[in-house]
Amino acid sequence: MVTKQIVNEINSLKESYPSKDSALLPALTLVQKKNGNVLTLKALQEIANIFDVPIGKVYGVATYYSMFNVDKKIGKYHLQVDTNIPGVLTGAREILSHLEKVLGIKAGETTGDGLFTITEVECLASCGTCPVIQVNDVYYENMTASKVDQLIKSLRKGEMPERKDDSQFGTVCNVLLKNRGVKDATSIKVAKANGAYKTLAKAKKMKPEDILKEIKNAGLRGRGGAGFPAGMKWGFLAKGTGKPVYLICNADEGEPGTFKDRQIMEYDPHLLIEGMAIAARAIGAAKAFIYIPGEFGWIADILEKAVDEAKKDGQLSEVDIIVHRGAGSYVCGEETALIESIEGKRGQPRIRPPFPAVSGVYDCPTIVNNVETLASVPFIVENGADAFKKWGSENNYGFKLYGISGCVNKPGVYEYPMGVSFNELMKAAGGVKGTLKAAIVGGLSVAIMKAEELKDLKMDYDSCAKKGTGLGSGGIMVISTEFSIPEIALRTAKFYAHESCGKCVPCKEGSYMLVKILKKILSGNGTSQDIDNIIKICNTVRGGLSLCPTGEAFSVPIGAMVNKFRSEFEELIKDN
Ligand SMILES: Cc1cc2nc3c(=O)[nH]c(=O)nc-3n(C[C@H](O)[C@H](O)[C@H](O)COP(=O)(O)O)c2cc1C
Ligand code: SF4
Ligand code: FES
Repeated sequence: MVTKQIVNEINSLKESYPSKDSALLPALTLVQKKNGNVLTLKALQEIANIFDVPIGKVYGVATYYSMFNVDKKIGKYHLQVDTNIPGVLTGAREILSHLEKVLGIKAGETTGDGLFTITEVECLASCGTCPVIQVNDVYYENMTASKVDQLIKSLRKGEMPERKDDSQFGTVCNVLLKNRGVKDATSIKVAKANGAYKTLAKAKKMKPEDILKEIKNAGLRGRGGAGFPAGMKWGFLAKGTGKPVYLICNADEGEPGTFKDRQIMEYDPHLLIEGMAIAARAIGAAKAFIYIPGEFGWIADILEKAVDEAKKDGQLSEVDIIVHRGAGSYVCGEETALIESIEGKRGQPRIRPPFPAVSGVYDCPTIVNNVETLASVPFIVENGADAFKKWGSENNYGFKLYGISGCVNKPGVYEYPMGVSFNELMKAAGGVKGTLKAAIVGGLSVAIMKAEELKDLKMDYDSCAKKGTGLGSGGIMVISTEFSIPEIALRTAKFYAHESCGKCVPCKEGSYMLVKILKKILSGNGTSQDIDNIIKICNTVRGGLSLCPTGEAFSVPIGAMVNKFRSEFEELIKDN
């Protein structure tokens, strides 16, 4: 039901955006939250009336995002277990089976008393603390069977246990994670006592072009995955259009194996806000967004509080920052899909060009940068490009967050100079658990590397590219000899088939076909022709046929899994 109070709240949400349609996702989230975690068709009609749009538009948007439960029955406690690759490597499937056994239902079902629903979901960007169960808005991490029993016992009593944070980290550069262990570092008082906003004060006295020059000189490459130089991107901004300029911080963190950006947002939000305020000055943006996954509800709250404090403290005199919550969609991490999502639409990528720097959100010049990229800006402006270049090597400068998950003893986020060796990172993460078989070093969308290829791998953009893989987001998934690559290939294909936005055929059909073939092989009914067909599909999709990089994001890793571990696939079909 959409009460008068909810209508008022939605109307004020509409006022807070440059365009009222941008409030559609927040409105759907609000109505769902106030109505037992479900969106009925009646509620969608009421929302359509408030936005003065046809119900078809609202229905189309609501059914696109996985967090919206349209016309579904959801129990009082929605238990969402993620079983993506890092989860598989740390026992998430066993946790899911245990949960199913304890509750006597399967994933996708609700208990007869209406208390519990289990849903199997994709990566929750908590890969260093997998297995994870998200109960309504709360993450329970590092789950074991006995912790599951304890959790269910509490929930049956109507008690939601407090979230316990036992994530691990380490830093040798002491920039992005310098406040990670500091108590109350999210409060502006503590942050300022540790130096926050000093550089913003300096930047406010600098000419925008001088800030841009420093970022260009530093050679800061975007940390969202592609490694595109930030200064060059800012320089591409369309000038003299007469339209407002927008800055968007991409905090979507949807790539499996990636859980680095939340370290900054959750533990040092003022570092990001300061970086955004400086970047906004450099590009002339008076309005900025932080696009954060809907699953990160508590982190969005931390950010909103920090923005509010920064505003009250006079720090945001030149830019207004809106924290915008997504609603469950990997593809919304792609910058043009993200822009569509901010505009209140299904998060499907746009055809480029035009690039966002020319025509982005609301058809205005827009810069989209990753959290880590923007959080690196204050250091450069404060200390100068040369200080940044003290780390790394030519074309790959600075400090970097590496998220290490899977078969290691101390999974977590580690801040090291760009170009640190894979072996050094393994040492930081407490060593490999078991015998190293392979690793996927840049989030799920890059080519898998065999143990022998990892020996002397330097973790920077160019070194990884030279070795036929990618640094991507710096999310490293470590795989021991205990695990089967065909199983990992199937889980990869399932992820992309689930997440494909469906706008273009090679990605939509290609990912679906790969799931079908891999299932056939794993069930013992495959032929060697099936293995060749996987390669054929991957080569076709990666040939630039798909509309956005998602096609490459699955055809590259799955193709590499088959090419590098073909014998494991062949073993499954040897009796045919
Ligand atoms: C399917 C897909 C998902 C992506 N997800 C993210 C993401 O979660 N976070 C991110 O910063 N960039 C993501 N990107 C890259 C963005 O499109 C964009 O390049 C990036 O935000 C730019 O920031 P940067 O220049 O600071 O790296 C994704 C790209 C694709 C194709
Ligand atoms: S490649 Fe996939 S995600 Fe990208 S537009 Fe096509 S269908 Fe959508
Ligand atoms: S949070 Fe479990 S796979 Fe990423």
